[in-house]
Order: sequence, then C-alpha cells, then structure tokens
Amino acid sequence: MQSVILTCVVALAAIVVVQGDTPGNCMYEDIRGTWTFKIGKGGNNNTLDCSNFQGPYVEQYEITLKYYANVSDTKGNEGFWTLIYNQGFEVVIDKRKFFAFSKFVGRKSYCSETLPGWAHNIDGTNWACYVGQKSKGEKKIRYSSKGKTSREFITPEFQENFVSAINSVQNSWTARTYDEFNYKTWASLMQKTGGPVADKSGLAKAQPTTPELEDLVSDLPANFDWRNVKGQNYVSPVRDQEACGSCYAFASMGMAEARVRIQTKLSQKPIYSPQDVLECSEYAQGCGGGFSYLVAGKYAQDFGIVEEKCNPYKGRDVPTCTTDPSCERVRAKDYSYIGGFYGNCSEPAMRRAIYDRGPVAVGFEVQSDFFFYSEGIYQGTGINFNPFVVTDHAVVIVGWGEDSDGKKFWNVKNSWGADWGDHGYFKIARGNDQQGIESCACESTLIVG
Ligand SMILES: *[C@@H]1O[C@H](CO)[C@@H](O)[C@H](O)[C@H]1NC(C)=O
Ligand SMILES: *[C@@H]1O[C@H](CO)[C@@H](O)[C@H](O)[C@H]1NC(C)=O
Ligand SMILES: *[C@@H]1O[C@H](CO)[C@@H](O)[C@H](O)[C@H]1NC(C)=O
Repeated sequence: MQSVILTCVVALAAIVVVQGDTPGNCMYEDIRGTWTFKIGKGGNNNTLDCSNFQGPYVEQYEITLKYYANVSDTKGNEGFWTLIYNQGFEVVIDKRKFFAFSKFVGRKSYCSETLPGWAHNIDGTNWACYVGQKSKGEKKIRYSSKGKTSREFITPEFQENFVSAINSVQNSWTARTYDEFNYKTWASLMQKTGGPVADKSGLAKAQPTTPELEDLVSDLPANFDWRNVKGQNYVSPVRDQEACGSCYAFASMGMAEARVRIQTKLSQKPIYSPQDVLECSEYAQGCGGGFSYLVAGKYAQDFGIVEEKCNPYKGRDVPTCTTDPSCERVRAKDYSYIGGFYGNCSEPAMRRAIYDRGPVAVGFEVQSDFFFYSEGIYQGTGINFNPFVVTDHAVVIVGWGEDSDGKKFWNVKNSWGADWGDHGYFKIARGNDQQGIESCACESTLIVG
C-alpha cells in the first residue's frame, strides 16, 4: 500500500519508521484542467482490486475539472469535483463517482497522473478500475518534504524547561510535563501526530469570514458543545490510538459515533471499529495514515463501517481484513468537505455544520509545544523544539465557545487517551485558522436503522 501524510503514530514504535512514509503532494492548480480517464471493464462489485490495474481499457472518458468544483465532460454532462487535501481527487459526474490518489513514486509526485483508482455508479453496484492522465495543462512534478527530526531523547529536565518556557510567554493555555514522554525521541512524538506538512504554501487556507457567512450563523449561541446539550452528552468516550498512525480513523469513527447518537436521540450508542479501517480500507494506509474525508465519507459510503466488536482495536497493521464478515456494515448517506469542496472551509460554515448535524472531523498542524498541552485555549507559542517539522493530525470538533474575555475557541476531542490534555480534550483558538484548523474539515452522515 502507498502511504500518505497523516501518520500520527504514537511513541513506542518510533524506531521502525521515522520518516518512511512518502506521501503524494499535488495542489489544486496541478490538478485543475482536462483529464482522460482510461477505464477498465465494469460490472464488478466493491471487492474489485484495482491496486495493480494496467488495463485493458474499455472506455476513454474525457473530463475538464474547472473552478471551483465544477466538472464537465464532452457529452455535455456537468458534475462536481474536489481535491482531497494534496493526495488525490474525487469526481462525480454522469451518475458515476471516480476517486484515485495522485501518482507518486518515492517522494516524487507526478501530478498529471493518478495511481489506479476506483470508478463506480452512484449506488455503488457497478465497479471498474481506471487511471487518469492529464491531457491538457501543465504537467507538474513535486517532491514531498522529508521532515528532518531529532532522535534525541526527551529527558525530564528538558520537559521541565520546555514547559516552563511555554508557560512563561503566554497565559492563554498551560503546558505540563508528561511522564510517558520521558526517554522517548522527538521522532516518536512526531509520529504520534503525523507526517510532515507537505508544502504549506500550496495547501488550502480557511475562507475569510464575510457578511454572507456571518448571516449563516447569526442564530447560533455563543457557546455550544455536544457533550452537554440540555444536559445530554452526545459524544462517545475518548480513545487512545496507541502506537499507530490511525488518528484519521479515530477522528472518522468519533464523528460517526456522535452523529448516530444525535440522529437516534441517544437510543443507539455504537462504538465503531478503527481497526476495520486499518485492515480493510484501500482508501487509507493503515497505521501509515489516511484522511477523514476518505474514511468517514467515502469508505463509509462505498463499503460501510462496523462496530468495534467486529474487529477490536489492535493498534497495528494486519495484512488481511480480519473483520467478522457476519457483521452488518453501516453506510454513509452523504459526505462532504465543509463548504462543499476542499478549499472552501470557513469558521462560520463549520459552526453551522456542527450545530445542525453534529461534530466534524478536522485536520490541523501540530507544533512541538502542543504535546505538552494541559488546559486553556491553545495557540502556537512559537516555542518549538528544533528540529521539529510541523505535522498533520486529525481530531473531532465537538463544540465552541467564548471565555470571559471574549476569546473564542473550539472544543476538540483528541485520540491520545483520556489522561492527555483536559480529559482527552483541548481548546484551540477559533476564528483565525489557528494551525490550519479551519481549513480542512469534513462531515459525513450515516444511515442508521
Ligand atoms: C463480488 O464479485 C466477486 C468477483 O466477481 C464474486 O466472487 C463475489 O461473489 C461477488 N460478491 C457479491 C456479494 O456479489
Ligand atoms: C457550477 O455548477 C453549478 C451547479 O451545478 C452551476 O449553478 C454553476 O453555474 C456552475 N458554475 C460554472 C462556473 O460553471
Ligand atoms: C463556499 O461555502 C459557502 C458556505 O459554506 C457557500 O455558501 C458557497 O456557495 C461555497 N462556494 C462555492 C463556490 O460553492
């Protein structure tokens, strides 16, 4: 399997793969343009394995990906497309869905080609493999960064000094030392959150708040949290991803769990299986990382997710899918990036989505000070261990608020266990795209019986 950015591995497994993951890295402008999809024979179900697809092709399908999210084909059909972070793109047109990762070999991304991907009709009953090739427009090659990081051990003395430095420069949040970080390497802490942020300049930013966007949320309260809506808690317990880069799977399952509680008015409180995603999803890279859009959304729609008991968490990759085949799979009815496509997220649109439909999965960038968060409203202090490369992480926003000074924040559920941070949660500054947290949020709604 290929690897992507959000590795988020926990401490223990440090030594094996420090920076082994080599994600694709393609930007909006590299992808926008005219493509030919070379499609193989259809008529398959979702067990179709496309990983080594090289033809034969039975159809050549030309489409043009346009601003911002429109797509057209040569037969006059119109549809929708979105970039998926910097990893690939999804196209929905003429009653079919196409998804493929951008092609990469090692750290080199060929942004005018895709790896073999999956095409299927909207109801998911007729599958084929395809590869995409950009036929017009610039053919961009990019390199993903190989984040340098230190194998130096974190000592108790270092933690004391680092934490007191953080606490002396600001009073928005407090840091504390963590015994479990002692004698771990920085490399291992970095894996706890994710791989390096590829090329920050090319990634989407939050859309600025406009009067139209403000209108969207004029009726919403100043403080809202799904852990306490009229005395009811709609959020499932905090979990621990352990020694595996599965933050995206935990964020996806956490969003799904809360949304089922909301939809069923707490009559159903399922816990879903991140291990099923690690073992069974071709849309993610197991403990090597993945993206919530492709898991909570696309995997949940195309294949469905299962309850924890069907494949209990092991926190490591297993080469085959060991999920109990007799388990019922729960499907996503719909899924999207907030704002409709990657690049159109904004703080008001996130609040609207959270309030109307439930918690959302977000990606954000982790700096080294974040590990030591204890309580308060996190914002980057600029005090960073050097060399520490900013990494990506996936978490779930469950609400928002304002403190007595009018300082705005999000309430966020992490997957580092209930002993980390504020009972497993943190607050992060809201309204200024702090660490990119307002730039990449997605949501998905399950079909529950
Ligand atoms: C899916 O397709 C495979 C291969 O063609 C076939 O063996 C299997 O029975 C099919 N499964 C279902 C549920 O139709
Ligand atoms: C994009 O699609 C929407 C709806 O499908 C349509 O209303 C809009 O005019 C299209 N925009 C462009 C630039 O083609
Ligand atoms: C971007 O998102 C806003 C609010 O979520 C929405 O009103 C707008 O139509 C979106 N833009 C496009 C081009 O779809």
